[in-house]
Amino acid sequence: MSQKIRGVKGTRDVLPTETYVKDDDPWVRIAHYHLVEQAARDLFPLYGYREARTPVLERTELFVRGIGEVTDIVGKEMYTFDDHGDRVSMRPENTASLVRAYVEHNVSQLEPDTKWWYLGPMFRRERQQRGRYRQFTQIGIEAFGSAGPRVDAEQIELLDRWLRALGIPFEMHLNSLGDANCRPPYRAALQAYLRARVDDLCEECKKRIETNPIRVLDCKNPKCQEVAAGAPKLVLCDPCKAHFDGLQSILTALKVSFVLDAKLVRGLDYYTRTAYEAIATEGLGAQSTVAGGGRYDGLVRELGGGDVPGIGFAAGVERLALIVAQQGKERAVRPVLFIAPLGDAEAARADQLAQQLRAAGLAAEVSFRKSNPGNQLKRADALGARFALVLGDLELQTDRARLKELKTGAQHEVSLAGLLPALQKLLEESP
Ligand code: HAM
Repeated sequence: MSQKIRGVKGTRDVLPTETYVKDDDPWVRIAHYHLVEQAARDLFPLYGYREARTPVLERTELFVRGIGEVTDIVGKEMYTFDDHGDRVSMRPENTASLVRAYVEHNVSQLEPDTKWWYLGPMFRRERQQRGRYRQFTQIGIEAFGSAGPRVDAEQIELLDRWLRALGIPFEMHLNSLGDANCRPPYRAALQAYLRARVDDLCEECKKRIETNPIRVLDCKNPKCQEVAAGAPKLVLCDPCKAHFDGLQSILTALKVSFVLDAKLVRGLDYYTRTAYEAIATEGLGAQSTVAGGGRYDGLVRELGGGDVPGIGFAAGVERLALIVAQQGKERAVRPVLFIAPLGDAEAARADQLAQQLRAAGLAAEVSFRKSNPGNQLKRADALGARFALVLGDLELQTDRARLKELKTGAQHEVSLAGLLPALQKLLEESP
């Protein structure tokens, strides 16, 4: 036998059946992903968001310019390679790609406001741990064209509603990162403060003083946190303050709870003003941020478009699926009927019956195996079928059969010719 080939570190298989994934305690199946994804598909269009799909591969330059060269994502975590002279990367996130598409297709000329949502795999070469993978799935939204705080509030309300619909226990954290007016003097003041305390910082933060001093504020190292606690606070300029105050009063009017969090700084460089994160309060360990986003008013211009403001968020589907799996929720299509034919003539009849049920929109499963009725019923049970029907010679000859309801054991006498209406009636009586 040849040697088995294992999956790449930091990637995972999501299967329909339960598989124990190392480092993940609950058993996450595709049905948990579907629950998270379907809730988004149902909800986001109610807010005017339409799905957009962009490629996994983009020019490396897009992320260097879009996300920022000194961020961990671009500096250390991208999968980049040479494609016959072009530097390309597998997308580590989707905001830069959507802005690229927005600019490339001149969308601002076609509509004043644009709302897009997306779902797909992203790639970051991070240290793997529970809830943090090298290939992971994001569901996100981006809105282009509106500079005022109403769209910020609408997005935060959407995220709040989605997470509540999924039963995720979370807190919405909110901050303002200022803009090109008030952030540069703050950055300089923060750098001066950090330089004076350089000996108390971790090796990573020592470097960050010059490259990305704001990131020191959310370093997890206890010594850095102590330094951060005494750091100068950002003083917003008047327009930024008006935006942030406006956002908070709209959220309060919409009855969306939030906590102000001056330590929320985000890991990408494109943010201005509003930054928000939904942090799970149970069910995840260190990687508890289930969604994060904010405003990026300069990004469209940075990537070659006009002065179009934008805001969005992305959520980690694996993290949400971990929580819903622990809660025992899932979205699964189960067979309404499992048909177990005992012989060849019965098998042919079973195939016809299943075809008829499926054409009417009912999930039906036929057994391809010849085994005794007891084993067949066990299989029906394992599939989660609602009813089972054993088809033998007698049933075929008399056209009568017994539908067994697997949960209760109740039996319903039906004719094979009238199987579909009989099933429909039973489902109507107790869905
Ligand atoms: P981000 O904070 O880098 O933001 O990622 C958003 C979410 O993706 C995180 O809160 C987390 O749930 C999930 N995530 C990130 N990295 C991993 C990983 N290695 N494994 C599992 N899940 C992960 C962005 O990506 C921005 N593009 C969000 C945004 C949209 N801002 C504006 N618009």
